[in-house]
Amino acid sequence: MKEYNIYISARVATQEELSLKERELIREAVNAAESSYSPYSHFAVGAALRLDTGEIIKGSNQENASYPVGCCAERTALFWTGANRKHAVICEIAVVALNGGQITKDVTAPCGMCRQALLEVERRQKSPIRVFLCGKDEVVILNQVADLLPLSFNAENMSV
Ligand code: THU
Repeated sequence: MKEYNIYISARVATQEELSLKERELIREAVNAAESSYSPYSHFAVGAALRLDTGEIIKGSNQENASYPVGCCAERTALFWTGANRKHAVICEIAVVALNGGQITKDVTAPCGMCRQALLEVERRQKSPIRVFLCGKDEVVILNQVADLLPLSFNAENMSV
């Protein structure tokens, strides 16, 4: 029997310890959260992606009375980018949630479905996407989406 020990490296910073550009991306994620349509969960999530062109793309969660129909903030931003900026490379993503208009105390991390969607883009573009998970007092920073989804499923796993 073999044993895998999987280590990921994450840094935790305060907003003040981040660069102006990083703080800008987080501000844009907060701004995106303000456009959330979340009458069912009352949990407003925002995601901001920085492209290699410098452009920032925003997305927020969009819910539906038929709950599974809704879409998370991360995939809203990701799929809009795929549809409208086909050749762009995504360099960074910031994710934040608001509850009652305030950034949540805990950092917000993408759900499993969003991790899978983000990972496929990261693999396809062959360039890491840095991840900023934001909470009120701290930001967790990962160097790549792959760190959020170890032992992941991907298309190569389908060949015999
Ligand atoms: N949600 C996101 O948009 N992103 C996440 O990272 C976690 C969850 C949304 C989905 C749903 O609209 C609400 O938050 C509660 O789960």
